[in-house]
Amino acid sequence: MVAVRDTISLHDVSKLNTPEKRWNPYDWYESMLNKQRVYYDEQQDVWSIFRYEDVQYALKEYTLFSNRRKRSVIPVIKKDSRVSMNTVDPPLHRDVRHLVSRAFSPHSLSDWRPRIQRIVDQLISAMHTKAEIDLVQDFAIPLPITIISDLLGAPREDTQTIKKWSDALFLPNVSYQKEQQQKEKLAVMAQFEQYLLPLIKAKRQQPTQDIISDLTTVAYEGDTLTDEEIAQFSISLLAAGNETTTNLITNLFYCLLYDAPSSYETLRCKPSLCSQAIEETLRFRFPITLDREVTEDTTIFGTPMKKGDIILLWISAANHDPLVFPSPHVFDLTRSNSNKHLTFGKGPHFCLGAPLARLEATLALETFLRHVTHIQPLPAYNVQEHIAPDGQNLASLPIMVTWN
Ligand code: HEM
Repeated sequence: MVAVRDTISLHDVSKLNTPEKRWNPYDWYESMLNKQRVYYDEQQDVWSIFRYEDVQYALKEYTLFSNRRKRSVIPVIKKDSRVSMNTVDPPLHRDVRHLVSRAFSPHSLSDWRPRIQRIVDQLISAMHTKAEIDLVQDFAIPLPITIISDLLGAPREDTQTIKKWSDALFLPNVSYQKEQQQKEKLAVMAQFEQYLLPLIKAKRQQPTQDIISDLTTVAYEGDTLTDEEIAQFSISLLAAGNETTTNLITNLFYCLLYDAPSSYETLRCKPSLCSQAIEETLRFRFPITLDREVTEDTTIFGTPMKKGDIILLWISAANHDPLVFPSPHVFDLTRSNSNKHLTFGKGPHFCLGAPLARLEATLALETFLRHVTHIQPLPAYNVQEHIAPDGQNLASLPIMVTWN
């Protein structure tokens, strides 16, 4: 059954109501970190927490802060199924997660590495004649969608269509268009499923080296997964791993160009710092907020809350908590604890695709460093004109490149 979950509009809580404020929300984070420990927004009827220690606690304490929630900031339509991973708690969650965890194990990743490198190389060679590229459209968008479609086992020629569906499902919730948006998302979900079902049937008969083929053979509750369940699983993987990784790669290059302008040269001299650059980007410039439902009447973080209340966990504010990250608003390649960020979550729902996202970003950056000696901002670039409508991500990032 398709459940249309009531959505929470994040920007109505934060009042980050201009593109500039959404792109650089640091003053707001700072003011909320300094204010009272818990903030209640009357209009959206939600609690919010910001401090690192509190956000981390809420992520781990799944018995008090449940993923089974009736309202959410996540704009994807939820379909009730035995295998929906992000909307159940342990112990059931452990069994569901186990079904796909093999696909993201270090062993699988090392098998996939050459496939991912090949896709990175193809995209780089397609740009090779240009002195100016759009890092988002030419690279950061096609890379993750091609990789995840490939790993799932969808034909390469369908990548564009899959991307279009995945974007439509992830469009941010806008309160004034709520009903229209939900209708459109339900239609896309149905189309996406109709596309996947024959693919799944074919892989049941003739398995290949991909996640859908793997899913046709796993056993769950004494049974195999149905085609509909596999379709649902595949859609959630496509949705979870697509725009997030695009934003990571885009923001990484934005940080190297604008937040700490000599960093690209530093990385060229010392490529071993690549993973540090990626972790610092995840800490410094990655807007992400999760939500949980309170499971019992309680007093927590010094505040009485009721069973059924919704609490927002402002992960990106926690990543700027000066008690954990000194001088938090500086992008610092030498920071010793960047990887303590909470951008992939924490506890039972820790991002299953984190190793894949890290691998994609690492191969992307290392390959760039080998082929491009110099990157430069475009003189007329005004970031505010490039922020996606109602989003906190860049729709384009034109840059000048000098090829090796
Ligand atoms: C930079 C890229 C990414 C970021 C920042 C990110 C972030 C997150 C976060 C914060 C969660 C925890 C949600 C919660 O606690 O409710 C999560 C869960 C998840 N992510 Fe990612 N993700 C990224 C990439 C990916 C990729 C590439 C995939 C796979 C293709 C993926 C698949 C998942 C799945 C399946 C879950 C649910 C895990 C569970 O509920 O047990 N993610 N992600």
